[in-house]
Amino acid sequence: MKKVRFNREQSFETVKKLVCENLVSFGIEAEEAAAEFDIMIEFLTGLRRSQIMLGANVELSEEQLVQLDSFVDKREQRIPIQYILEETYFMGQRLKVRQGVFIPRPDTETLVEVSLAKLKQLYGHEKIWMLEIGSGSGAIPVSLLKNLPNLRAVSLDVNKLALALSRENAVLHEVDWRLELVHESEWWKIGRKFQALITNPPYIPRHQQATLQPEVGLHEPELALFGTDDDGLGFYRQICTHAEDVVMAGGLIAVEVGDDQGEPVRELFCNAGFAAVQTHKDLNGIVRVVSALIATRE
Ligand SMILES: C[S@@+](CC[C@H](N)C(=O)[O-])C[C@H]1O[C@@H](n2cnc3c(N)ncnc32)[C@H](O)[C@@H]1O
Repeated sequence: MKKVRFNREQSFETVKKLVCENLVSFGIEAEEAAAEFDIMIEFLTGLRRSQIMLGANVELSEEQLVQLDSFVDKREQRIPIQYILEETYFMGQRLKVRQGVFIPRPDTETLVEVSLAKLKQLYGHEKIWMLEIGSGSGAIPVSLLKNLPNLRAVSLDVNKLALALSRENAVLHEVDWRLELVHESEWWKIGRKFQALITNPPYIPRHQQATLQPEVGLHEPELALFGTDDDGLGFYRQICTHAEDVVMAGGLIAVEVGDDQGEPVRELFCNAGFAAVQTHKDLNGIVRVVSALIATRE
């Protein structure tokens, strides 16, 4: 398809049609293309998405049209829209994102909501510490710290770019003084105990690599995607082996799982002797989180 070069003679509706047609010709689904157009316009104009969808009278300047053009060019390479705009929204909050660091997903909001409810129920207003494995953009600790003033967090990542971005997001949301970021891959060696271990670990089985969307497979960091062991469940097995080294008796474990991993992870946690093992569904009705407690000794 011939590439668009937008100009101010074109109506907003024409620009929208051209952008969407281009995105679809790159292999992006029509519904996603329309949603991305709204996100681009929201970013460029500062208008809210509801205003754009209701057909607010949008007039784009020459400069904005040039930027729009460059967004479409980058989408042709299937660079995720979040990397192009260097931002996304998680739990209703704006977060910075950057190439080289995993993009936080709406699915992970389930993990944050379950963790919030459990921590409130277990500890009320007590001062508590959590450990996160795999900071990425800092989405999980930043959201939890914003919502729980009595919480402090240590978050680990193997990826230094992720730690730097987490720091920026923590500063953006003014929770940086309650967050320690550590460059570490063997989390069980942290040498401290916490009231909670929370993680969205890499869990995609390596054999599914060919099925990934180009946005994910070509552009997101491999270390954030693929779980260890053939079934992708290696991180959960590590948790079964080492959780007691880092979580106090009675403390919380909450993990995100991939599609179809809820039952195997529930079983792993039960076999490891964890207490109160529960599964939690996301908004699509898929088990997305498994939670448990470290059993207290009699
Ligand atoms: C699926 S991403 C999750 C990122 C973020 N928590 C989120 O939910 O958006 C997994 C993260 O774990 C990190 N990671 C992978 N292996 C690790 C390890 N052994 N120790 C610490 N972090 C690791 C990756 O670099 C990546 O940032």
